[in-house]
Amino acid sequence: MPKPRTKYVCNQCGAEEVQYFGRCRSCGSWNSLVEELLPPTASGPTRTAIGTVSRSSKQGRSPQKTPQSLVSLTLPEIADHPQVRFSSGYTELDRVLGGGIVPGSLVLIGGDPGIGKSTLLLQTANQLATRYRTLYVCAEESGQQVKLRAQRLGVDGGGTGEAARDASLYLLPEIDLDTIIAELESLRPQVAVIDSIQALYFAALNSAPGSVAQVRECTAALMQVAKREHITLFIVGHVTKEGAIAGPKVLEHLVDTVLYFEGDRFASHRLLRAVKNRFGATNELGVFEMAEQGLAEVLNPSELFLSHRDQETPGTATIVACEGTRPLVVELQALVSPTSYPSPRRTATGFEYNRLQQILAVLEKRVGIPLSKLDAYVASSGGLNVAEPAADLGVAIAVAASFRDRIVDPETVLIGEVGLGGQVRPVAQMELRLREAAKLGFKRAIVPASQAEYPGVNLEMTPVTRVVDAIAAALVGRRVGVEEEQRDERVESITEVESIAE
Ligand SMILES: Nc1ncnc2c1ncn2[C@@H]1O[C@H](COP(=O)(O)OP(=O)(O)OP(=O)(O)O)[C@@H](O)[C@H]1O
Ligand SMILES: [Mg+2]
Ligand SMILES: [Zn+2]
Repeated sequence: MPKPRTKYVCNQCGAEEVQYFGRCRSCGSWNSLVEELLPPTASGPTRTAIGTVSRSSKQGRSPQKTPQSLVSLTLPEIADHPQVRFSSGYTELDRVLGGGIVPGSLVLIGGDPGIGKSTLLLQTANQLATRYRTLYVCAEESGQQVKLRAQRLGVDGGGTGEAARDASLYLLPEIDLDTIIAELESLRPQVAVIDSIQALYFAALNSAPGSVAQVRECTAALMQVAKREHITLFIVGHVTKEGAIAGPKVLEHLVDTVLYFEGDRFASHRLLRAVKNRFGATNELGVFEMAEQGLAEVLNPSELFLSHRDQETPGTATIVACEGTRPLVVELQALVSPTSYPSPRRTATGFEYNRLQQILAVLEKRVGIPLSKLDAYVASSGGLNVAEPAADLGVAIAVAASFRDRIVDPETVLIGEVGLGGQVRPVAQMELRLREAAKLGFKRAIVPASQAEYPGVNLEMTPVTRVVDAIAAALVGRRVGVEEEQRDERVESITEVESIAE
């Protein structure tokens, strides 16, 4: 088969070239030319011919269909395909997928190098292999490497021999796209894992594996086979330094579901998040823990994020965040100290920087804490990213507690959004959050005034309308740490502030 011809297209201005240039000759942008296959012509080989030969000839279909007159269908005329989801074997993965795997869907899993993508998918493939024919394409590692990992993880790949043919784990160490597609067509697995898309090579393109053109064309070709053969595909994608899945944004548009596997390299927990899902909500969160024997599900993540609560420290407040339908009790820590810089330093770990700035401004203006003279650091425990307004109140209280060297009542959770006027505003899914807090043994919740009536929840409710009231309600006991007089010298307005805040 002669090589299909390719062209280079500028993804800034759309100009076409026959060869690669580092700089677009039309618009002048650098590195914007991307290789593309030429559209099918009568004389040249065509894109639809690639990798689809064996199967389509078996079915007596020609890949180049003769043009048909368009027949439009009304919705009831389209054949029903009831989406009977099946379980991946992991509750956490099923949840993120929207309640199980949709047959024939394409799932892209992105994540930093070494975060555990191969581990997750090998374990999942092993679970699936007890019920389905499963193919694991290891394009990045040799069969031996995968086998070593499999042994460490206790993956046995289902049975062996003829009886196991229908439900078994097959390994294919291969990078050539055509070979992989041929294998998909002959083995016809129900589930296939491609690890990773950046390692695949499509011989029709001149570009190197991992280039935008390769990644895009390989995904498109795999998708065609998957949709035709009704194979569920899990595709691993690497993440660039900027944090996007390497390759064009179109990759994310092609697939049905995009999951990100993330976590702190130095902590053992890993979070699986959906950023796009055609078959479910995108805000669901799955939690795993990485151990020697591989990934284990964490079914009670709140306990994981609270486990560090050994001693009471000023500047710590507990909130209940919600990831999708999943409430998570998370500890927030704040540290404020007099600044030695012309403009004070602020850092937010696991919390949105701009929101922190806003809350600090509210505390300064409405509560009177002189934060423009103080550095402020806020972090969530376990590095969990808390990206919702319901955490505002917790942040505000943690900062205030650190400023006053006081302890927040350890049996209290704080839930509420902080408005610019210093008011505490209602949040979504309050009952869910309260139930989670009660389940974990918290006794009291400080909540927005309009959300204090939940008779079924076993918590003492403290309704507040303003942040100042919440501060007064949350802080307990005497101040600890630095003596008041010393602090007065450093921050002049302190006593004045205390009287406002009290
Ligand atoms: N012997 C071991 N004991 C415990 N943990 C291990 C061991 N070997 C590997 N790991 C864990 O597995 C992780 C690597 O997992 P894996 O290879 O699945 O990651 P990956 O995301 O596929 O990486 P890559 O981007 O290189 O493909 C390591 O970072 C480490 O946390
Ligand atoms: Mg890997
Ligand atoms: Zn251009």
